[in-house]
Amino acid sequence: MNEMIQAIGENLARDGYHYDPCFGSNNLSLAQKRDMFVAFASKFGDMYLSENKSVIQTNPQPTAPSSMPFDRNAQIGWHNDFSTKNVRPRISMSWIVNQDPHGPMKGGWRLASARDVITVIRNMDDGVELLARLGQPIFPFGYLERGAVNHFPILEKADGDQMRFYGRALREGAQLDTLRIIAKPELLEIVQIVEEAADMVGYIKPAPQGALMVVDNTRSLHDRLPQTVEGKQPLRTALLSFVV
Ligand SMILES: [Fe+2]
Repeated sequence: MNEMIQAIGENLARDGYHYDPCFGSNNLSLAQKRDMFVAFASKFGDMYLSENKSVIQTNPQPTAPSSMPFDRNAQIGWHNDFSTKNVRPRISMSWIVNQDPHGPMKGGWRLASARDVITVIRNMDDGVELLARLGQPIFPFGYLERGAVNHFPILEKADGDQMRFYGRALREGAQLDTLRIIAKPELLEIVQIVEEAADMVGYIKPAPQGALMVVDNTRSLHDRLPQTVEGKQPLRTALLSFVV
């Protein structure tokens, strides 16, 4: 186990993410898997969510609210977890305990190193100016259902490799923002530039039974492809855990 933890740490430092298509153990009960996952996540640090909710178990359904994007059909889009919060988890992980019934890529992940995304932007014609702009605390992150925004930079430092990003939170934040430190057209253009940069350097990874994704939540962006949300068969179930 300790060798695995060390290898994951090395991958997080190099790429910002770790992917294992067959982490899981099929012969455990769901309760045993939850316990094992908490024990595994605890090797990386303290849990971000409080004790009785330290693991989120996804439950895809057609009526899932937008506040639970992990249960909705729609692709989530490039993001970091808890991007609207001042304090975010350092590491996020997702473990597939029941795969999407319609094939391994359904509900698969996309992963991109923040360093690679930043390099794409830096190499654009106005890249240096753009990175300086991304380092300013002017971007409104928020959700329509909550009705408020917090302003943060997208790049924690203009010359660093840590990002805060979620296209939906920024597009909805643009609608809610009353301060308008950044004009809405520029904000929407920047969101698109970051998403297209991530498209260029990101990888798609299938999410079969037992697959594990671990991300450094500031040094990478991740995404989940559309998933099945109805039918008689069991649907895609992931255990999600967050570490500070
Ligand atoms: Fe996520």
